[in-house]
Amino acid sequence: MIQVLFVCLGNICRSPMAEAIFRELVKKKGLQGLVQVDSAGTGDYHVGEEPHRGTKNILQKYQINAEGLIARQIQQEDLHTFQYIIAMDSDNVTNIRRLGQISEKTKVMRLRDFVQDGGQMDVPDPYFTGNFEEVYELVREGCEHLLQQIMQDLELRGKKG
Ligand code: 4NP
Repeated sequence: MIQVLFVCLGNICRSPMAEAIFRELVKKKGLQGLVQVDSAGTGDYHVGEEPHRGTKNILQKYQINAEGLIARQIQQEDLHTFQYIIAMDSDNVTNIRRLGQISEKTKVMRLRDFVQDGGQMDVPDPYFTGNFEEVYELVREGCEHLLQQIMQDLELRGKKG
């Protein structure tokens, strides 16, 4: 089992969008039994809330299931549970690292490490920009490449027995 945690600041815009998109990609590949997906925010402002209307609208537009997305704050124990912690921006990475020791098995990366567009390394925050479509495009591409990486991990693991 490979566990993936998407992280942003509020867990109502970017990371729940990534969770929903990635979950759908995993399902399309039939990998639900091997890859688990979750999301969290570094802040606690919106704990217990459903995604922002802009995220809900974009998921609906692209017919992606948005059920069960409820904001939570990242916890120290998450640093030992997940093999991939995928942050939306560099501030998220700083705040994740401040939480404590990260397991050797856990990779903390930015989603844009998986987007080869030569652009800046942060996924812009639509809570402030209002541009959920731009975020959707970035998140979708990042999630597709992340899944390719994870499928390679699974294959290597399979070969090692
Ligand atoms: P997110 O966006 O980190 O993509 O969920 C934000 C949501 C809420 C706030 C900031 C960013 N806020 O300051 O409440």
